[in-house]
Amino acid sequence: MKDAKAVRQAAKIIQQGGIVAFPTETVYGLGADAYNPLAVARIFEVKRRPYFDPLIVHIALPADLIKLVKEIPSSARRLTEKLWPGPLTVVLLKEQHIPDIVTAGLPTVALRMPSHPMALSLIKESKCPIAAPSANPFGYLSPTTAEHVREQLGDQVDLILDGGPCTVGVESTIVSFLDGKPRLLRPGGVSLEEIESVIGKVEISPIQDRPSVPGMLPRHYAPRTPIVLDWDKKHLNSYKDKRIGLLAFQESEHFLHFQHIEVLSKKGDFREAAANLFSAIRRLDALDLDLILAEAVPEAGLGRAIMDRLRRATSQEE
Ligand code: TXA
Ligand code: MG
Repeated sequence: MKDAKAVRQAAKIIQQGGIVAFPTETVYGLGADAYNPLAVARIFEVKRRPYFDPLIVHIALPADLIKLVKEIPSSARRLTEKLWPGPLTVVLLKEQHIPDIVTAGLPTVALRMPSHPMALSLIKESKCPIAAPSANPFGYLSPTTAEHVREQLGDQVDLILDGGPCTVGVESTIVSFLDGKPRLLRPGGVSLEEIESVIGKVEISPIQDRPSVPGMLPRHYAPRTPIVLDWDKKHLNSYKDKRIGLLAFQESEHFLHFQHIEVLSKKGDFREAAANLFSAIRRLDALDLDLILAEAVPEAGLGRAIMDRLRRATSQEE
């Protein structure tokens, strides 16, 4: 009941041109009415996000998709029918009435139907599609609890809806359908394997070929403490005088050297690891360590999204 009331209040704020942080199954979003350019502009200001980085538009019904795009290729239709609501975003040619600020002037728009019940009721009650990036300052880790949002954006947003910790924990997988070819733009909460089981082969662009939008820039999702990914147990002694933390995939024994260890999944489960990833990095980042060493995870299933976020968090390239 309390939740329903909070959602109604949030929807009212969205309709009046305000901005609301809300839970999705992937990460918390910072939303505004997608048809209100001024409200959307406030999202960019609060996040300190460059205007050339387009936002994802969130809808509550698959039928709303056609109102926002020129056409739906059959592979996109099959994929959304199978995986929506859920952590999948599709990029399609946009209808004209979507404001340019949402899509950074691109002829395309990114669309997603989230599965979190609070996100769905917020969109339905607001009676408009909701443009929303992740609710974090630009370049920093995405929030997976309401508390994360409060810590970083607290007084700058009109309301924070608390829907508990995000169950998926990494952002949605983004697939574009331009020139008839599905292409993976960002690995995420649904695995490539699952997507290919529905629509067949998906092109994977190397980072250099991707549109140069920040979520796809080498350095992104970064904590303040440097993270190192390609380290070797043999060299641990050389870090002797440093305060170092370990981001471990599974539990293991040889780790006497660390101030603090975060284990992503004791049983080595990718889903559990993804759900814990950003919270674990935040906890390490709060300890004033000199360095965080991260363990690599196998690049299959959700392991691909985890490794993508770790690489961007460790990259020195801006
Ligand atoms: O799981 C998610 O996707 C979360 C939740 C809140 O839905 N949202 C999210 O949004 O991760 P954001 O803004 O942090 O990341 C969206 C990514 C950005 O890298 C942006 O550049 C890309 O989507 N994007 C948006 N529109 C695009 C377009 N038309 N073409 C290519 N990339 C696009
Ligand atoms: Mg983001």
